[in-house]
Amino acid sequence: MLLLMRLDHMTWPEVEAYLDRAGAILLPVGSTEQHGPNGPLGTDALCPEGVGREAAKRLGILAAPTLALGVAPYHMAFPGTITLTPETFRAVLAETVTSLAQHGFSYVYVLNGHGGNSPFIRALLKELKAPRCKLHNWFAGPRVRALAAELYGKAEGLHATPSEIALAWHVAPETQRSSVVMTPKRAPGGFEKEPEAFRARFPDGRIGSEAALARAEDGARLLEAAVEDVIEDYQTFIG
Ligand code: NI
Repeated sequence: MLLLMRLDHMTWPEVEAYLDRAGAILLPVGSTEQHGPNGPLGTDALCPEGVGREAAKRLGILAAPTLALGVAPYHMAFPGTITLTPETFRAVLAETVTSLAQHGFSYVYVLNGHGGNSPFIRALLKELKAPRCKLHNWFAGPRVRALAAELYGKAEGLHATPSEIALAWHVAPETQRSSVVMTPKRAPGGFEKEPEAFRARFPDGRIGSEAALARAEDGARLLEAAVEDVIEDYQTFIG
């Protein structure tokens, strides 16, 4: 039997056959933004994509192409960051979901990797009457939080965290960096909205994290934890 997982690898007759017996799809959503001196710009997209594809495979459902651009204006003082306005992000997500609904997908599970996207996703999903949708942030599940606390404690921080970098390195090994010296070891905490003020306060892009602690081996454990969180949360959603 054909291993169903990625929508973009299938033909339309295969999708039609899938829809004859099932109606669920997982949609990874992320961001392309700076993640400090050792994290790839795609961290917030690579993580939900890797977790989502593995979870979809185990659940026997499809994964949609990743929406890899999100709302990240505060990171714009760092080269490579791409941001959408909330209106554009909302429109892209809304039109993606309604396209899927038009073909008969009745359950859309949105797996997000960027905290800054969450309020906009939540607001949109509240307004959509159909299909049934659910938002889950991969980094907020109980197993992931417990493992990140065990591995890094307070060194996890808030942005460019060792856990998300470890996971990105695991799912995309070509992005792995060898030791980068970071000063201070633990970045300052807080937040700044304005891009220039953000970079002045967080010169290497990290917030509160000791990103040098990231290890690809930890990423393998984080992937497993995140996949288990998704499977449990998905089953509650489907009922
Ligand atoms: Ni991130």
